[in-house]
Amino acid sequence: MKVKIRKVEITEIQEIFEIDKKEFEPMNYPLFVLKQYYDLFSDLFLIAENETKDILGYIIGGINTDNNEGWVLSVATKIAYRGHGIGTQLCEALLNKFRVDCVLLTVHPDNFGAIHIYKKLGFNISAKKENYYGDNSPRNIMKLNKVTDIKV
Ligand SMILES: CC(C)(COP(=O)(O)OP(=O)(O)OC[C@H]1O[C@@H](n2cnc3c(N)ncnc32)[C@H](O)[C@@H]1OP(=O)(O)O)[C@@H](O)C(=O)NCCC(=O)NCCS
Repeated sequence: MKVKIRKVEITEIQEIFEIDKKEFEPMNYPLFVLKQYYDLFSDLFLIAENETKDILGYIIGGINTDNNEGWVLSVATKIAYRGHGIGTQLCEALLNKFRVDCVLLTVHPDNFGAIHIYKKLGFNISAKKENYYGDNSPRNIMKLNKVTDIKV
């Protein structure tokens, strides 16, 4: 599906909050955290919009300046628009913005759709953690060693 990927606007944070809440509740980001991600990483906070300017998905990246690692913090496509390549395009757009040594993310081991995309882009599982966030749910840590390894 043809979408435009661009930086989020401050006025759109509330809408991102609603999408994030729908997908990740009760582990969704509070509105103030999204605003602070915007404050810190506005260049890495991207949305996908269609021709009528509806927001169909978003991705948020961050950088650990201590070790120059990039992180994919969150990505989601609205359920009605999944399977049209939007999640992949959002990930590619973010990876293209990173000027870091490697990129990391966490993903639930049962999230086969997301893992499929990350592997397609060159990520590998670097660790499996049973309680990464302290809430007793497992996460795989996935890593892209060189951003130039992007495969698509
Ligand atoms: C993960 C997510 C962002 C993908 O968005 P999307 O717009 O559907 O992504 P795409 O259309 O680019 O790609 C979907 C791919 O996953 C594949 N896929 C979907 N469900 C799958 C499954 N259960 N097992 C394996 N592959 C699957 C599709 O076949 C497609 O692969 P292809 O491009 O090789 O044909 C979306 O499913 C989502 O928002 N999920 C809820 C939030 C979430 O889990 N985010 C990730 C947190 S780590």
